[in-house]
Amino acid sequence: MPKPQILVLKDANAVAHAGAERVRQAGHLAVSLRGSFHWVLAGGNTPRALYELLVSEEAVNWRATHVYFGDERHVLPTDPDSNYGMAERALFRHGLLAPDRILRMRGELPSREGAMDYEERLRAAFPDAAWPTFDLVLLGLGADGHTASLFPHTAALDSGPRWVMHNQVPSLGTERLTLTFPALNAAREIVFLVAGADKARALHALVEGHQPVAEIPARGVQPASGQCLILADEAAAAGLRR
Ligand code: 6PG
Repeated sequence: MPKPQILVLKDANAVAHAGAERVRQAGHLAVSLRGSFHWVLAGGNTPRALYELLVSEEAVNWRATHVYFGDERHVLPTDPDSNYGMAERALFRHGLLAPDRILRMRGELPSREGAMDYEERLRAAFPDAAWPTFDLVLLGLGADGHTASLFPHTAALDSGPRWVMHNQVPSLGTERLTLTFPALNAAREIVFLVAGADKARALHALVEGHQPVAEIPARGVQPASGQCLILADEAAAAGLRR
């Protein structure tokens, strides 16, 4: 698998703009080639500014777009911690996407049930496929090297044939829902959004380290297509050899 391409940008705002441009380009390419755009949203805080930059009719062919989630917390969609809730406030509430084009992870369900529910609905969206063929997956990077809700030394790192897993996260004292590595790595393109000095150690480990995936789960993101881009600000990239 080729090494990810890294683009170091001035600050978080520049990362958001570059990320939004990647979404626009990936969406345009997908719709022109296949008539649809299947896009996985990242959770956390970093992507919010990117979603807000896409609030316009012409940003993406919204009528041909289907959005999914890379992970979700074990909360109601109205909870301030909900990844769906963040995307709803930043993007969905502007009415550009029909509700049936948003495949929400039901974090409010008991986690095992929530994972099975999402996998069932995802498999219905990609019938007869070995893995979901997303056109673009956006991911964040945690300071501990996690991505989506694939945390160090947790069960979901070893997912077998599953597309979605519930995951106990002792470091947070909670459980999450997450896409699995094989489901992520079947994507045509993966883009990491990384901003802030607190991510410098994890980004160095991701790009230049040799730690096992169990320690730095983001190292398990290796799309078969080879299309992996890291958009990082200078603060997060401070520890990288230039
Ligand atoms: C989540 C995310 C998680 C996130 C990283 C970075 O549910 O929290 O999916 O993987 O992307 O923790 O989060 P920030 O963007 O808030 O730094």
